[in-house]
Amino acid sequence: MNNHSCVKILNEWDIVAARQLGRNIARELNFGIIDQARITTAISELARNIFIYAGQGEIQIEKLLQGGKKGLKVIAADHGPGISDIRKVMEDGYSTSGGLGAGLPGVRRLMDEFDIDSDPKKGTTVTAVKWVR
Ligand SMILES: Nc1ncnc2c1ncn2[C@@H]1O[C@H](COP(=O)(O)OP(=O)(O)OP(=O)(O)O)[C@@H](O)[C@H]1O
Ligand SMILES: [Mg+2]
Repeated sequence: MNNHSCVKILNEWDIVAARQLGRNIARELNFGIIDQARITTAISELARNIFIYAGQGEIQIEKLLQGGKKGLKVIAADHGPGISDIRKVMEDGYSTSGGLGAGLPGVRRLMDEFDIDSDPKKGTTVTAVKWVR
């Protein structure tokens, strides 16, 4: 079974493609309609951040099957400028682009697990997991 999918984010249309892929996989996993919406919103925010701040990168989506638990993992990875102060970008309203600064804090709230790994020399990887209830 192929439980690993990937969308390269190179332009704005790829954000839509990543979102659609996420919805399809969330459906396959039998997530409810509200959780499907949470997952697709989180994926759009992460894909949009890649496009705006890093220029390009990728969204990977993985199905998780762990001891009877089912879930979906999103990995948003880029080799862009990185984030120097992760604590700061997780504050509601913090934006370096005149945005709402709601993207990353929103993703954390929408998903069950959330992690950012970033290095100004290597780029940024955001990992988020949602479990089927
Ligand atoms: N992939 C990334 N690479 C580098 N910096 C990033 C990345 N993603 C987010 N950031 C930084 O984190 C800040 C906060 O991101 P967040 O998505 O929360 O808000 P925003 O993109 O500024 O506004 P919004 O998402 O509400 O439109 C951004 O302004 C940017 O400085
Ligand atoms: Mg954003």
